[in-house]
Order: sequence, then structure tokens, then C-alpha cells
Amino acid sequence: MGCSDADYSYLRDLVLQQSANLIDPSRNALFDTRLTPVVQMAGASSVKDLVKMLRTNRPAHLHRAVAEAMTINETSFFRDVKPYELLRRTILPRLMEEKKKERRLRIWSAASSTGQEAYSMAMLMLSHFPELADWDVKIVGTDISRRVVEYAKRGRYSRLEVNRGLPAGMLLRYMVRDGEEWEISAQVRAMCEFHCANLCMPLSFLPVFDLVLLRNVLLYFSQQDRSTVFRHVHRQMAREGYLLLGNAEQADESTDQFAVEFSTNESSYFYRPA
Ligand SMILES: C[S@@+](CC[C@H](N)C(=O)[O-])C[C@H]1O[C@@H](n2cnc3c(N)ncnc32)[C@H](O)[C@@H]1O
Repeated sequence: MGCSDADYSYLRDLVLQQSANLIDPSRNALFDTRLTPVVQMAGASSVKDLVKMLRTNRPAHLHRAVAEAMTINETSFFRDVKPYELLRRTILPRLMEEKKKERRLRIWSAASSTGQEAYSMAMLMLSHFPELADWDVKIVGTDISRRVVEYAKRGRYSRLEVNRGLPAGMLLRYMVRDGEEWEISAQVRAMCEFHCANLCMPLSFLPVFDLVLLRNVLLYFSQQDRSTVFRHVHRQMAREGYLLLGNAEQADESTDQFAVEFSTNESSYFYRPA
């Protein structure tokens, strides 16, 4: 027997509580496909049976697994191109000028998914700013989903994944072919680390960042949860830091803690703490 409206409503509430992701009732069918591995893991016979287990035993790991299974992890190397051009031409040179005494940069790919955003930053820096070689540079990727964090740490990508956005020169310089897969080189890997973190929870275990990339995640959140995330991000940012948002993060309605520093008509937005 399939799920009732009440079952789907329970699942939507669970996901909202765990990860702040809003799932529209018109997308209920997604639960049936995405939760198949969780059904198997739990030893349940169907999604309906899983809901019964979740309601009665409240096992924390299964609640978490449901939320993780419902995340949208779409990403690619050098996604959207334009922000990376702005980073190369304007933001990184400014940051390097501002930080030239400390020679230390901390960059955060918040909601890093399978790691392409963090690794793209590392490749951009290595290829265009060789003077950073003797700086202390760390790019930290975080995501709520343990699966994608493990994937990012592994640093191995299929041909399809590297064909999406990674220029051929970068591929040959910064990745090593291993059979059908491409592996992130030791030089790039050394600049990046990945951790599990929920953006809606306090994030004080993270360092203070000079540059934060927060892209393609808050569009799934309510305005209230977006405001919470902006508060957490603000707390983790250097006063002179930069925040790069995606096209749909809706900062204007959700925070007054950041001011637009730089925007283009293609809507790549850089903010600074206000
Ligand atoms: C669409 S991907 C964006 C990846 C990358 N930033 C980009 O723009 O290509 C969104 C990621 O946000 C993560 N995510 C969703 N809710 C989250 C939360 N509450 N805390 C941390 N990460 C979350 C998902 O697991 C997913 O990997």
C-alpha cells in the first residue's frame, strides 16, 4: 500500500526539521523514489512501512537518512562561470592585497555537495595566482549530507562529471586519470578539506573565513531559515570578508547583515558584512 497524504505530510515535516529543506506537496512522488535505499537500510517493506517505523521508534539515524536522501546535490566544476571570472579578476586580487601581511586565506564552500565548487576554487587559485604557493590557504567544504561529503573527500570523478565545466587545461594539470575516473591531484587536494555541517545549526567549530561561497542552497529554505543561515554565516566571516551568493539565495528579504559590494546584470552577487 502507498503512502497517505498524512504520511507525506509527516515526511515533509521531518525533512523541514532536519535540514530546513522545503518540499512542495506537488513533489510527494520524490519520496517514493529517493527513499528506496533508506527503506532497505531500515529493513522496512515500503515507504509507508518506513513512515510507521519513523513515527513509532523515532530512530535518529533514520530521520537523518531521510533528510539526507531528499537533498538536491546538483553541482559542477566552475558552475555558472561568471562568478569565477569575478573572483579571478576582482575579488581574489583585492583579498590578496588586504591579506598580504598575514599571507593566510580561509575560504568556505558552504553546501559543497560532491566537492566540485571547493576544488574549482583551488584550481583557480593555483592556475592564476602562483604567488599564493607560499601562503597558508585552506578551502573548507561543508554539507549536511554525509554521502556527498565522503564523495568530495574521495576526490574521484567520472568522465561525465569532469566534462561538465572543467576546462581541458585544468583537467590535465590538476587531475590524474585512473581507468574510467579522474582523481584530484595531491596539490589540489592538500588545499581542501570537507566536513558534515548543517547550516541551520551553530557552526562555531569552523574557522573565520575571508571568502564564503553560499550558492544554490537557500532557494529550498523558508525565509525564516534563510535568515538563520545568514546569521550563522555572518558569525563565521571576517569583517573584511566577501560572501558570494547564487542567483536565488534571496538575501535582500532575509538579512540586513550584509551589503552588496559587487553585482553584475547576470546577478552574480558579492556581499560584505554590513
Ligand atoms: C544544489 S547543491 C549546491 C552545491 C554547490 N554550492 C553549487 O552551487 O554547485 C545544494 C547542497 O546543499 C546541501 N544542503 C541542503 N540543506 C542543507 C543544510 N541545512 N545544511 C547544509 N547543507 C545543506 C545539500 O546536501 C546539497 O549538497
